[in-house]
Amino acid sequence: MKQPLSGIVLAGGTGSRLYPLTKVTNKHLLPVGRYPMIYHPLLRLREAGITRIAVVTSPEHMGDVVNLLGSGSDLGLDLTYRVQDEPGGIAQALGLCENFAREKPFLVALGDNILQDNLTSEVTIFQRQGRGARILLKSVPDPQCYGVPQFNGDKITRIIEKPESPPSEYAVTGLYFYDAKVFEYIRNLSPSRRGEYEVSDLNTAYVKDDNLTYGILNGWWGDAGTIEGWHQANELAQSLQYPFFKQKFPNQ
Ligand code: DAU
Repeated sequence: MKQPLSGIVLAGGTGSRLYPLTKVTNKHLLPVGRYPMIYHPLLRLREAGITRIAVVTSPEHMGDVVNLLGSGSDLGLDLTYRVQDEPGGIAQALGLCENFAREKPFLVALGDNILQDNLTSEVTIFQRQGRGARILLKSVPDPQCYGVPQFNGDKITRIIEKPESPPSEYAVTGLYFYDAKVFEYIRNLSPSRRGEYEVSDLNTAYVKDDNLTYGILNGWWGDAGTIEGWHQANELAQSLQYPFFKQKFPNQ
């Protein structure tokens, strides 16, 4: 039997697009449906059998995040924390988890991504793949707001971060499977024009080595990191309940 994957949930950044909602709190602690935002990726990972998870956040908000999540035992999780001193990008935040990953493959979820799909089958696919990386795509009306894959036939040739003229209708969602080679790729990245270590450059590095596969999400997906996205995520997640949480807290 395959060993269960570990998980990493990224909850750093500035939350500037949600200001002033994020003036005194972290974006990932705002409500989405009946849960704090960060519960959504954490409970999707748990549903897929991933319980050993590292949460990365900023020094300003680590206290509040730990107050909310603690050891993780309420959610059936075993949580570890890492501090990202400055918001230097998603790839930089991920780079802080090298020791946590113990040279094994894992699943990364961005803390502001809300999704309908159960990830169990994708986890199984990646475990069979065994190496490289796998990303999950979703067709969206506004791909220019996301990382966007460029295709040649059905093969991804490149991923472009927030392109003015999107080469496809797909967003790269904030769910990424990686093997431990990711940390080597991160060390070789340069900051983008906006000064961040970009996850799209990281995924393109895997494309160049012909080591990236992709799946497509079936259900709805949302990035709650903008005011419109947050409103939409609240609508989508209004009646969303996670079986594990419901069993443990039947009155919630
Ligand atoms: O939601 C999917 C999109 O997420 C992808 O399509 C893009 O390729 C990817 O860059 C990202 O775009 P965003 O503009 O939504 O990224 P944002 O700055 O909002 O960061 C997303 C999450 O990553 C956020 O919930 C916190 C975490 N993060 C971000 C930064 C910049 C960190 O933990 N540290 C950071 O330094």
